[in-house]
Amino acid sequence: MCAKRLDLQGKTCVITGATSGIGEVAAERLAAMGARLVLIARDRARGEATLARLRARAPGPAHRAHYADLMLIAEVKRVAAEIAAQERRIDILVNNAGAMFSFRRLTAEGLERTFALNHMAYFVLSHGLREPLLGAAPARVVNTASASHQSAQLHFEDLQFARAYNGVSAYQRSKLCNILFTRELSRRWVGEGVTVNCLHPGFVASNFGREAGGLLPFALRAAQVFAISPEEGAETIVYLASSPEVDDLSGGYFFKCRASAPAPQAEDDNAARRLWQESAKLAGIE
Ligand SMILES: NC(=O)c1ccc[n+]([C@@H]2O[C@H](COP(=O)([O-])OP(=O)(O)OC[C@H]3O[C@@H](n4cnc5c(N)ncnc54)[C@H](OP(=O)(O)O)[C@@H]3O)[C@@H](O)[C@H]2O)c1
Repeated sequence: MCAKRLDLQGKTCVITGATSGIGEVAAERLAAMGARLVLIARDRARGEATLARLRARAPGPAHRAHYADLMLIAEVKRVAAEIAAQERRIDILVNNAGAMFSFRRLTAEGLERTFALNHMAYFVLSHGLREPLLGAAPARVVNTASASHQSAQLHFEDLQFARAYNGVSAYQRSKLCNILFTRELSRRWVGEGVTVNCLHPGFVASNFGREAGGLLPFALRAAQVFAISPEEGAETIVYLASSPEVDDLSGGYFFKCRASAPAPQAEDDNAARRLWQESAKLAGIE
């Protein structure tokens, strides 16, 4: 589908959510193109299994894994500091780990889980890896968003969805946050040689939603008869991470390896700026 590929020999790619679904396929493809992969996983057994597959597929570079529950800001900060201490240059960061939850629960840090994992982890990890990304400029950040943002509205007075929580709506809002974050990070970093783009992978038959609780896993699994494969879903991640066609593009939203227009609420630069400020406050970073 997306013909252009770069030789990624000598490049380092940090990726989240590579133990399953589209992240796993993207990691394997990027490794096959020569990149050295640095995974961030939450489960050691699944992380080691992915590493073993990468080493079998692309034995040259020293792929490695770090472990963190990305739902917790403190964990994201810790793992980012750990990686930044070891990697002087990061050429590609793929923020991809995400989930949906039927029931509203707060993390130990008091944030709603969907917002914490799907948005705050992207924000805090990118911030924590700023130095090695700038050190590798031209570098790229790729954020996995979703077309489901189209039905979402962001309510700044209720970012933790305390009122009338609904798992699907919380997910849609978090994916709207991914696009707004992409725009604001791009505005801040593109002048420093780091491009930032996001994508909709399509509706993919992955493990997505398996741990949502309630009836959502059954509904999602039933709907997956209409879904594309993780191999197809990974195409646009790999494209944005590697293609020379997007060397000079930043702040965009892509679907099927093409720039696409997100919903109007995802193009609201004031909302993007405010989301940045609120996220920085929550994360305790400037
Ligand atoms: N599937 C779709 O139809 C679809 C559509 C649009 C957008 N997306 C987006 O695509 C991205 C990847 O989803 P997928 O379909 O590949 O789903 P998936 O198969 O469920 O993979 C999700 C990945 O995120 C990781 N993860 C979940 N919670 C985590 C946590 N607390 N800390 C660290 N890692 C965590 C998972 O790790 P484990 O292996 O340990 O569970 C797994 O590697 C998500 O951002 C999702 O919103 C998916």
